[in-house]
Amino acid sequence: MKYTTLGRTGLKVSRLCLGTMTFGWSTDRETAFAIMDKAFDAGLNFFDTADIYSRWIEGNQGGESETIIGEWLKTKSRREVIIATKVRGRMWAGENGEGLSRHHIMHAVEDSLRRLQTDYIDLYQTHWTDDNTTHEETLEALDRLVRDGKVLYLGCSNYPAWQLMKALWTSDKHGLARFDCIQPHHSIFHRQEFESELEAACLDQNVAVIPYSPLAAGFATGKHRRDTREVDSTRTSSGLVTRLVADDRAYVVLDSLEKLAQAHRCPMAHVALAWQLARPSITAPIIGVRTLAQLDELLGAVDLTLSESEIGQLNAVSEGF
Ligand SMILES: NC(=O)c1ccc[n+]([C@@H]2O[C@H](COP(=O)([O-])OP(=O)(O)OC[C@H]3O[C@@H](n4cnc5c(N)ncnc54)[C@H](OP(=O)(O)O)[C@@H]3O)[C@@H](O)[C@H]2O)c1
Repeated sequence: MKYTTLGRTGLKVSRLCLGTMTFGWSTDRETAFAIMDKAFDAGLNFFDTADIYSRWIEGNQGGESETIIGEWLKTKSRREVIIATKVRGRMWAGENGEGLSRHHIMHAVEDSLRRLQTDYIDLYQTHWTDDNTTHEETLEALDRLVRDGKVLYLGCSNYPAWQLMKALWTSDKHGLARFDCIQPHHSIFHRQEFESELEAACLDQNVAVIPYSPLAAGFATGKHRRDTREVDSTRTSSGLVTRLVADDRAYVVLDSLEKLAQAHRCPMAHVALAWQLARPSITAPIIGVRTLAQLDELLGAVDLTLSESEIGQLNAVSEGF
């Protein structure tokens, strides 16, 4: 495994982060334990979750992923694992059951700590913005958590460049802990949202970037092709995959990924991840896996280095995504 620092902080994280959105959904507890064990043994020390995972599944309350991680954490030395979780989504009924108010954050963090069975969260992230709460209120609440030692570092997710800059300015103005990390949607199949403006802001402000859906929910593995009917996937009906499956340009990118994968004798997913890891802005893509075999296939991606001309080819075919 390779490591880097999380933005301007001194925290060392592996160059792949393991997403755990599937835990308690398409991945059961036993498989989740095996996946985390395998990832940890391979040197991956960075795990991403959220309080709402997987509240969208019928019968779930949310917190299922954090609960599984909490049980697994007891089998490890706490200090060797970097846990990132998120707050913002609806977790209980009533007007304050969601959002980034001081009230919601103070209750939500205690719930996350209890489920994770730990007394601190390494990276606490706002899941998306809350137009009803000022940055001042949110950041003062988060700063309090840092001062109290309940949270070590702050991050945000799904913020456009102007919101990130406004939040950084707010922290600076009031002497508060700031967002040192952002989690945007980015992959070779979804470039503009991050690359158009946010990426420059992150580089300029030395904010770490941990992109989610780096394999476009599995599309970049090559499992969905023009002629395939049955795909072993739980993500086929996701908006992202449905859009790509119907987009001729996506198959042109897949063809390029496949050619390079053949040249390097590696899975297509390695090429997609190596392309992303080569961007100076990228700290650690958050890979998602449903099975142990999928994790096995992805782990070697950090060892692939693409040439400038190969990256240029991939940039050219994926322009516009
Ligand atoms: N902040 C946010 O708003 C946000 C949003 C989404 C995700 N996230 C975070 O990012 C993480 C990753 O997101 P993601 O799941 O969308 O990432 P992804 O890496 O783009 O897609 C992962 C999916 O691809 C398929 N896959 C993975 N490896 C494979 C392989 N070797 N062969 C074949 N198929 C493979 C699996 O789905 P199937 O097998 O079912 O096809 C897997 O669940 C999440 O766990 C979560 O932590 C954050």
